[in-house]
Amino acid sequence: MLQDTLTVKVTKTTHSRIEEVDWSNLPFGKIFSDHMLVMDYKNGEWQQPEIMPFGPIQMHPAMSAVHYGQSIFEGMKANKTEKGDILIFRPDMNANRFKESCERMCMPVIPEDVFTELVRKLVEVDENWIPAKEGYSLYIRPFLFATDEFIGIKPSDTYKFMIFTCPVGSYYTEPVNVKIEEHYTRASVGGVGRAKTAGNYGAALYPAKQGQLNGFHQLVWTDGKEHKFIEESGTMNIVFVINDTIITPSEDADTILRGVTKRSVIEVAQKWGIPVEERKVSVEEIVTAIKEGKLQDAFGAGTAATIAPIIKIGFRDEILELPPVETRVISTKIKNYLDDLKAGKIEDEFGWCLKV
Ligand SMILES: Cc1ncc(COP(=O)(O)O)c(C=O)c1O
Repeated sequence: MLQDTLTVKVTKTTHSRIEEVDWSNLPFGKIFSDHMLVMDYKNGEWQQPEIMPFGPIQMHPAMSAVHYGQSIFEGMKANKTEKGDILIFRPDMNANRFKESCERMCMPVIPEDVFTELVRKLVEVDENWIPAKEGYSLYIRPFLFATDEFIGIKPSDTYKFMIFTCPVGSYYTEPVNVKIEEHYTRASVGGVGRAKTAGNYGAALYPAKQGQLNGFHQLVWTDGKEHKFIEESGTMNIVFVINDTIITPSEDADTILRGVTKRSVIEVAQKWGIPVEERKVSVEEIVTAIKEGKLQDAFGAGTAATIAPIIKIGFRDEILELPPVETRVISTKIKNYLDDLKAGKIEDEFGWCLKV
C-alpha cells in the first residue's frame, strides 16, 4: 500500500522565482511558490508522488474532468512562527473532507495520512515562501481531477492529484456586505453541496455576480427548497451572535460545506463556556433579530478570509445595518485567539497545528 512505501521524489528548481516577489503586495492566489506536487492514479493504484518545479501541465482535449466535472479541491494555510517553526492549521480535517469529496464524486480516495504527509512535504520544500509578516500565510491548494482521454460519462479510470502553494495576504480588507439570496440555489438536498467540488463554485458565479453588481461582496445562500433557512455565505460558513449565544446553521443537511474554520470557532467557544447552537437558522429569525436590535454579530468563517465581519445584509429591498465591528466582542476574541494559535504565539492546547 502507498502508506507503507511513501517516498516522494523531489526535483528542485534551478531557477527560484522567490527574489522576484514583492512581499509587500501579495494579491490572493496570484503568486505561486517554486514547486508543486504531482501524484497520478492509474491501473487501480496511486503512483509515486513527485515534487517538481511549478509550471504548466499538458492536457488532452478530451480530459474528462473538463467535460464531466470530476474535480475536487481543498484549501488550508501554513504559517511561520517567530521562532521559525512551520505550522499547518488542522490539515487532518482537510484530509478528511478531501476523502469525503472523493467518495461523493466517485474518485479514488487518498488515505488521510498520505494526504497530510504530502502537504507537509511540499510545504517543507517551499518553506522560504511562507511570508513572515503578520496576517500573511502560505495558502495550500491540493486538488484532484479526472484525466481519462475519453468522451462518455463514467467515472474516470485515471486521475491526477496535485498540490501547489501561494503566499497570500488577507482576502477581505474591509467588513463585508452580503445579500440573502432567495432565487438561486447553491446546493440541494441529495446534491453535492457537502463536497468541495469545482462545479459548486462554477454554478455560484452567475448569482454572485448579480449580487456584486448590486454592491454586495457575497450572497447568503438559503435552502434550495423554500429559501427560508440560511446555509452559508459565498465561500464561508456563516455564524451569528444573538443573546451572547453563537448560532450557526447545522451541517446535518448535505448542502453545507463542513468548514474547518467554523468548527474551530465552535470548539473554542465551547471551551470558553460560550453557548453554541448548531441548528436550522431561519431568514426570518435573523431579519427580526436585526430589526429588534438583538443581533450582536454576524461573520463569515473560512480559511481564506479567517473571520470576516458582516456589516450589511441585503434582504429583498432593504439594507439592514449590523452593529459596528468594534462592538463585536466574541468574534474579535475568537479571531485573535485563532490568529495567535496559527502563528504559534500561544500554546496549542487543542493540538491543532501540525509542525512541519
Ligand atoms: C462553500 C464553502 N463554505 C465554507 C467554506 C469554509 O471552509 P473552511 O473553513 O474549511 O475553509 C469554504 C472554504 O473552503 C467554502 O468554499
